[in-house]
Amino acid sequence: MTRLENKVALVTGASQGIGLAVARKLAAQGAFVVIQGNRSMQAAGDAVRDIESHGGRAAAVQADLAQEDGPARLCERLDALLRDRLGCPDLDILVNNAGVIKREPIEAVTPAQFDLTLNVNLKAPFFLIQGLLPRLRDQGRIINVSSMGTRVAFPAMAAYAPAKAGLEALTRLLAAHLGPRGITVNTVSPGLTETGMNPQLAGSEAAQQAIAGIALGRLGRPDDIADVIAFLAGEEARWVTAQCIEVSGGQRI
Ligand SMILES: NC(=O)c1ccc[n+]([C@@H]2O[C@H](COP(=O)([O-])OP(=O)(O)OC[C@H]3O[C@@H](n4cnc5c(N)ncnc54)[C@H](OP(=O)(O)O)[C@@H]3O)[C@@H](O)[C@H]2O)c1
Repeated sequence: MTRLENKVALVTGASQGIGLAVARKLAAQGAFVVIQGNRSMQAAGDAVRDIESHGGRAAAVQADLAQEDGPARLCERLDALLRDRLGCPDLDILVNNAGVIKREPIEAVTPAQFDLTLNVNLKAPFFLIQGLLPRLRDQGRIINVSSMGTRVAFPAMAAYAPAKAGLEALTRLLAAHLGPRGITVNTVSPGLTETGMNPQLAGSEAAQQAIAGIALGRLGRPDDIADVIAFLAGEEARWVTAQCIEVSGGQRI
């Protein structure tokens, strides 16, 4: 028996980067994993086939979480998909990982950029949780992906850091609200991690400067973050809730 056998998981933003690593890990541990993507559905489909070729179970679903009706559409599509594949729409694990960043100081942030940042990073997880709560089984798991940018002041994260801070506040509130159902709610806050979110980093001077400020002496990799999320998703983490766990290799400590 694998540790997540019979569990059903939705991972948002799992077509690439950290979310993809999480989806792979949960599936390798026995969960049926739904990979949500938006623009990279080809990659999401490739991920499903790769998981299946390794004996895992997965499916892909598209949703634009920047849109007002994005979370509701995702709930509908997830419902149909799970009924079709598993005969039941219920799930055990929700990983709110999808995120966007536009690096700008406050002077340069437009209202449209602010809305996009808040919509994807905070509003979508909020309404996704609201929509899925009736289908989230007791003893379930909600894991929200924030950023170490809520602890360290990076002026270029003027809209992003407040959005992620809101997600962390929501985590604590929901941990109290859902505790009676045995549902744990936690946040994982990555440090600088090598994904498509940081295309400017590859081999750059900025990467070397960042590494100089990381105790463990390298940038994060998607698997570094995914291992901690997978831990929180399992039975071993049953007594961990309302926590914000930074996974940054000790960046800017
Ligand atoms: N990488 C880092 O250094 C770092 C540091 C701290 C926190 N984080 C957080 O970690 C999480 C994952 O980041 P990552 O580095 O893996 O980023 P990434 O490689 O850029 O992947 C982002 C994911 O989010 C999805 N997404 C973006 N906009 C979306 C939208 N409007 N609707 C639905 N899905 C959308 C993307 O889907 P498509 O590609 O299919 O459109 C993609 O799967 C994010 O919440 C991010 O804020 C990352």
